[in-house]
Amino acid sequence: MLFDTHAHYDDDWFDEDRDTLLASMPEKGVGLIVNPGITLETSRFAISMAEKYPHVYAAVGIHPENCHDFVPEHIDVLRELAKHHKVVAIGEIGLDYYWPENPSRELQQQAFRAQLALAQELSLPVIVHDREAHADTLAIVKEFPIVTGVFHCYSGSVEDARTLVKMGWMLSFNGAATFKNARKAPEVITELPMEHLMIETDAPYLAPVPYRGKRNDSGYVHLVAEKIAQIKAMTVDEVVRITAENGKRFFGIK
Ligand code: NI
Repeated sequence: MLFDTHAHYDDDWFDEDRDTLLASMPEKGVGLIVNPGITLETSRFAISMAEKYPHVYAAVGIHPENCHDFVPEHIDVLRELAKHHKVVAIGEIGLDYYWPENPSRELQQQAFRAQLALAQELSLPVIVHDREAHADTLAIVKEFPIVTGVFHCYSGSVEDARTLVKMGWMLSFNGAATFKNARKAPEVITELPMEHLMIETDAPYLAPVPYRGKRNDSGYVHLVAEKIAQIKAMTVDEVVRITAENGKRFFGIK
């Protein structure tokens, strides 16, 4: 059974066929999906999909690109949403310094710290987005030594990966690791102990080769497992099994 640990089915790219697609996943071998929210609204939507499908779980959080209007009261809303029995993490949270139109770094950091504090309070793991903000992201998660999480679509160095592993964190990889120009990800995957690795799609984005540029969905997550198997010289079955076990342990899914 494949576990897609990060997919955004709230995205309007799925408006036409969301239900058919989600319902078809178990027969495609995808037994579990975690859908992180990126706003309060999409966090609620993630919960509604998790209520509908036994194989779908939700995470709730405000993405750094969407924290323009962040106020501490949003944490109270997330706290209530996180009480739902199918919410398994706080996410997607973090820092994104890539886009110039993003909220200010100060505001992103404020929202990130507040959501890490919420995860600590609720004893939930976090799903972290880090784009072009490696040093600050790592420094801020280190302020919360009790909290563990996953760096999704990991794009940092081998050295930072080692630090995160020592802290008990997970790293997850998606279609970006299959791209021709992907250099760092294969290097990190080679070094990374198997028990700290998870797979994801980040659907609808980052479709793996040979579907690069097309709409992504969890049905392609096996291509990520195949890439990891190739890098680690393991069988695809082993990668599928171990990454699914890791995901279940990490998110506390029985
Ligand atoms: Ni995402």
